[in-house]
Amino acid sequence: RSVKVFAPATVANVVCGYDVLGFAVDQPGDEVIMRIKDEPGVVITKISGDEGRLPYHPAKNTVSVSVQHYLDHIGRPEVGVEIELFKKMPIGSGLGSSSASTVAGLFAINTLMGNPLTQMELVPFAMKGEEMACGTGHADNVAPALLGGFVLIRSYEPLDIIRLPYPEELYCSIVFPHVDVPTRDARKIIRSNVSLKDAVVQWGNVAGLVSGLFLKDIDLISRSMKDVIVEPVRSILIPDFYKLREIAMDNGALSFGISGSGPSVFTFTRNADDAQIINEKLKKHFLWLDTESISYHSPI
Ligand code: HSE
Repeated sequence: RSVKVFAPATVANVVCGYDVLGFAVDQPGDEVIMRIKDEPGVVITKISGDEGRLPYHPAKNTVSVSVQHYLDHIGRPEVGVEIELFKKMPIGSGLGSSSASTVAGLFAINTLMGNPLTQMELVPFAMKGEEMACGTGHADNVAPALLGGFVLIRSYEPLDIIRLPYPEELYCSIVFPHVDVPTRDARKIIRSNVSLKDAVVQWGNVAGLVSGLFLKDIDLISRSMKDVIVEPVRSILIPDFYKLREIAMDNGALSFGISGSGPSVFTFTRNADDAQIINEKLKKHFLWLDTESISYHSPI
């Protein structure tokens, strides 16, 4: 028996919601083919698209580790599994690359086992993979990759995840400049204390963004997507970040920000045409900076 699963890229934080907001996009995404084998043990037989960067060793790859963890949890540690992993998006891009692979693996094994767990119940297993990949088990990539759409992590302890509605006409455009920003490092540079003044601005914006999603009020969404806590620090890792914001906003973007921990940046637009135009302009600017870039645009 075998199964093929696609899991999408995700934009975590969504500007003001560090570690608590994220959404999935249509593409890109990673694929996993999983087969049950006779002998016990989870093995990875193929990895493509990773430029040789991901480990085959089952104890070192986030996909095999979370699949084994899942099998142990459901009381089937003896099950043998072969995994082929097809990376269809860059690693370390801020697009939830490790999350997509882990989520595809967990969805695949849960399907092969007859779905004993719900997608929501798979989230903690995927978070273990995140912890392994970047030191912290945050859920703002894995939860939207598993559940789709927009997701709020209201609380981590206990885990409380809410799927949010969103306006259908919202498009996302993403540009990934080829600079390496490991999430682990991008988390270390954030200040651990915030001022009450900044906190008031931030929670006003998070509440505004969530209200805007519920009310399908695009202007409210747009004016709430501001971050006074994380972005001022992380933007230094992204070449010409504020110039890129200017280009995006001058060309009709509703918002502009860092995707996850970067270096990818994303914009919201009202339609596919605007997403495409902004994408091209941002990409061109990165080229001028002598930085190779990859771009995507997709409905969320
Ligand atoms: N919330 C996480 C961070 C997402 O910003 O570090 C990482 O993709």
